[in-house]
Amino acid sequence: MTKIYGHRGAKGSYPENTLLSFKKAIDQGVEGIELDVHLTLDGEVVVIHDETLDRTTNGTGWIKDQTLSEIKQVSAGSRFVLLPDYEEEWDSETVPTLQEVLELMAPYPTELNIELKTYAVVYEGIEEKVHSIVKKYGNNRKVVYSSFHLPSLMRMKKVAPDANIAWLVNNKISFPIDHMNMLDLEALHVHKKMVLPPPEEYQIGARELYDKIRVWTVNDPAEIGQLLDVQVQAIITDFPERAIAIRNKR
Ligand code: G3P
Ligand code: CA
Repeated sequence: MTKIYGHRGAKGSYPENTLLSFKKAIDQGVEGIELDVHLTLDGEVVVIHDETLDRTTNGTGWIKDQTLSEIKQVSAGSRFVLLPDYEEEWDSETVPTLQEVLELMAPYPTELNIELKTYAVVYEGIEEKVHSIVKKYGNNRKVVYSSFHLPSLMRMKKVAPDANIAWLVNNKISFPIDHMNMLDLEALHVHKKMVLPPPEEYQIGARELYDKIRVWTVNDPAEIGQLLDVQVQAIITDFPERAIAIRNKR
């Protein structure tokens, strides 16, 4: 069965990468959650998509230049007034730490995909920090580390040789299974344009490949249906409730 992963929680309906968004995605019945991590000035792992606070919070400036206590002062909810279900209480959402997300998830078996946002800023030691938090607070759940930045994944493999590593790719690569075996990847996380419609070269050995790919970010019902048809391992979506409803009707 194709799993449904909530992209930054349930980003289409709630403020992305907040505890609220993650809890809503869990309540909607996701098998997994996707989130993004950065390091603060004082070396704390925080969950936010961009390198700066500007787009998703009422703060400004780089994550790397501010301490966790400074970042905790800003609202991670108040920018999302245009979402249809916006409520004023969202304004009290803060930028969560990875530890806080894992504590929230503790009662649930939900899988977690941690994207290491390591291509624009160098975060010294982020792989070690992230993995040590996962070991301490992860409750042995399935965790997948992903990144566009291959060196970061290779570093994670050194830190945690048994870790599940997934390479994020948005351009066609010729022999994906070969790449995966060579790099000891658990999965490829591919942009939907790579597999919609399924490209010719993927027809050979497609079953083996589809078992090992999670596809982002898929919100359109018809596209969700196509990917359920070919049974990709997981769909990463901003609207997990929608994707689960489509899957349940089959
Ligand atoms: O993990 C899939 C997807 O989240 C990668 O792109 O920009 O949404 O983090 P982005
Ligand atoms: Ca991401």
